[in-house]
Amino acid sequence: MENLFQPAEIASIVLPEEKIKSRVAALGRQITRDYAGKRLIMVGVLKGAVPFLADLIRCVALPLQYDFIAVASYGASTVSSGAVRMLKDLELSVEGFDVLLVEDIIDTGLTLRYLRENLYNRRPASLKIAALLNKPSRRGAEITADYCGFTVPDEFLVGYGLDYNQNFRNLPYVGALRREVWQER
Ligand code: IMP
Ligand code: MG
Repeated sequence: MENLFQPAEIASIVLPEEKIKSRVAALGRQITRDYAGKRLIMVGVLKGAVPFLADLIRCVALPLQYDFIAVASYGASTVSSGAVRMLKDLELSVEGFDVLLVEDIIDTGLTLRYLRENLYNRRPASLKIAALLNKPSRRGAEITADYCGFTVPDEFLVGYGLDYNQNFRNLPYVGALRREVWQER
C-alpha cells in the first residue's frame, strides 16, 4: 500500500518506494551470484544505510554476517568537509572475509575513501562498495560503487535513511528537500 506521508519540506518524490524495492532486489540477486561460496560480511554505515541494508540483506540468498560502523565528517550539515572520524567501530573481525561496505549515498566520496582505507588495513579477502545512490556531480575522491542503485542529480535528498538534521530518515521513498529549507539556515 502506498505511503502518502509527504511533509511540507519535501519538494518532490525522486524515487518512489516500489522503484527502490525492485532495484534493491536486483542488487541482491547480483550480490547472490557474485558472492556464492565466499565468506560475506556486509558492513552498514550508520545511520543512513540502515533501511537499505535491512532490505538488501533479505534479497541476498546466501549465508552472511552483517555489522555496523559509524563515522562523522566535520562541517556543516549539507556539506562534507573531508575530515572524517570514527564514532563506532565494527564488532566483527573482517580479516579474511569478503567485505561489502553498504552506504546510503556517495556524494563527494570522502566518507567511503576513509572507510575503504580503514577496512583495507584489516586485511579482508576482498572489499567492495554498495551504494543506494550515486551523486557524481560533486565527486572529490576517486570512489565508485561496485553495486549502485541509482544515479541521482545534485539535489539535497532525504528519506529511506537519508536525513536533514536527523529528520526524514523514515520516509519510505527518496525525496528532494525544498531548497528554501536547507539554503536559509
Ligand atoms: P560524502 O563523504 O560526501 O560522499 O558523503 C556521504 C555522506 O553525506 C552520506 O553518507 C550522507 O550521510 C551525506 N549526504 C550526502 N549527500 C546527501 C543528501 O543529498 N542527503 C542527505 N545526506 C547526504
Ligand atoms: Mg551517511
